[in-house]
Amino acid sequence: MDKLIIKGGKPLKGEIRISGAKNAALPILAATLLAQEPVTIANVPHLQDVTTMMRLLGSMGVHLSVDDHMQISVNSSGVENFYAPYDLVKTMRASIVVLGPLLARYGKAEVSLPGGCAIGSRPVDIHIKGMKALGAEVEVENGYIKASAKKRLKGTDFLFDVVTVTGTENLIMAACLAEGQTILRNAALEPEVEDLARFLNTLGAKISGAGSDTIIIDGVEQLGGGHYTVLPDRIEAGTYLVGAAMTRGHIKIKNIDPTIMSAVLSKLREAGAEISQGDNWIELTMNQDRPKAVNIFTNPYPAFPTDMQAQMMALNTVAEGVAVVTENVFENRFMHVQELQRMGAKIELKGKSATCWGVEKLTGAPVMATDLRASASLVLAGLVADGETVVDRIYHVDRGYERIEEKLTQLGATIRRDS
Ligand code: EPZ
Repeated sequence: MDKLIIKGGKPLKGEIRISGAKNAALPILAATLLAQEPVTIANVPHLQDVTTMMRLLGSMGVHLSVDDHMQISVNSSGVENFYAPYDLVKTMRASIVVLGPLLARYGKAEVSLPGGCAIGSRPVDIHIKGMKALGAEVEVENGYIKASAKKRLKGTDFLFDVVTVTGTENLIMAACLAEGQTILRNAALEPEVEDLARFLNTLGAKISGAGSDTIIIDGVEQLGGGHYTVLPDRIEAGTYLVGAAMTRGHIKIKNIDPTIMSAVLSKLREAGAEISQGDNWIELTMNQDRPKAVNIFTNPYPAFPTDMQAQMMALNTVAEGVAVVTENVFENRFMHVQELQRMGAKIELKGKSATCWGVEKLTGAPVMATDLRASASLVLAGLVADGETVVDRIYHVDRGYERIEEKLTQLGATIRRDS
């Protein structure tokens, strides 16, 4: 199993380019199931999860080809099965987003329940409730969601009990080909949801309000083809900015829209970072100062993202002062705490909050990744720790970070992959 070996103590300095957003690329790839004509998608990140989604679509009969710029050409005219098997879905819960497009275009879908993961039970009850509201028949048996629609799906006025990103995405896709108008209320506002809607509108969908909590979809008969470029990954960008803050460095990240990172940038400024920005770049310097500890409350967009919680906790472990990190979105997203404690972090867990007392130095240690963002926080901790940190099970990292060791090496870190 691959490991990352990191020798701490060097401030991150230099420039890197941010890759396309994983959490936009995945639903956009699934949405190609709706396209009657060929589609090309650019700026797709080269990640394990993207490979898994392409394998899943390929197993249904979708034809996909990738050029050496990771531009993906997709032709879904040959889909002959509507099945998402457990052995693929268990490695990537986001597979659930094939449910909506399969139902909308083919009137049937058999998708394995994703099951829980390290950060929580991750139910999909709202996805199912939404499909039923659009007129589908849905049963759950033997660990599979079995859905069918004898007639064309029918537009509905649907209120989400809980804000769900992929739930919103699934329903947008299902509603695109439904008869009449669908209104989604209390919808997720994430930029990745908006990117999916922009992509679908490129194919001829009629979606308005994406990026707000009320999304209106006027169903059309069919969707054509087109070309689309995936938006940059705000979580990858935030992760490198936190790394620069923790190591008291100075970096510039390119190909990122700062306006979708307000919550993260304001917390980094509160921690003492000096940040300047342009239309598609952000520069951060600590002026060699130690970061100050900052309180964090994760909540749906535009509040502070849960996907940045572990990274900001890593910053707090070496910051000046005491801070409390409260995780409001997932019930078990503190798996990184015990690993950070092994590196000398002073953290106390109580319910959904973690109190961190900043220490001058962490010490390198062998640690184990448990989920995507927890593993990122351990890599960041390794960048500042005294000595060597070995992060095991880094397949978690590879799911969400394109060429992490290359980008960190580009920023002056001492890091290598040990296969
Ligand atoms: C998406 O997951 C992201 N994944 C996650 O990123 C991210 O952490 C999460 O949104 C929150 O921002 C992708 O976009 C592929 P949710 P998703 O449905 O859609 C509850 C990463 O690190 N809920 O918004 O699965 C759920 O339990 C990953 O890149 C229900 O109760 O998350 C949670 O408490 C990790 N019933 C809350 O909603 C449902 O039917 C938010 O979950 C659906 C969700």
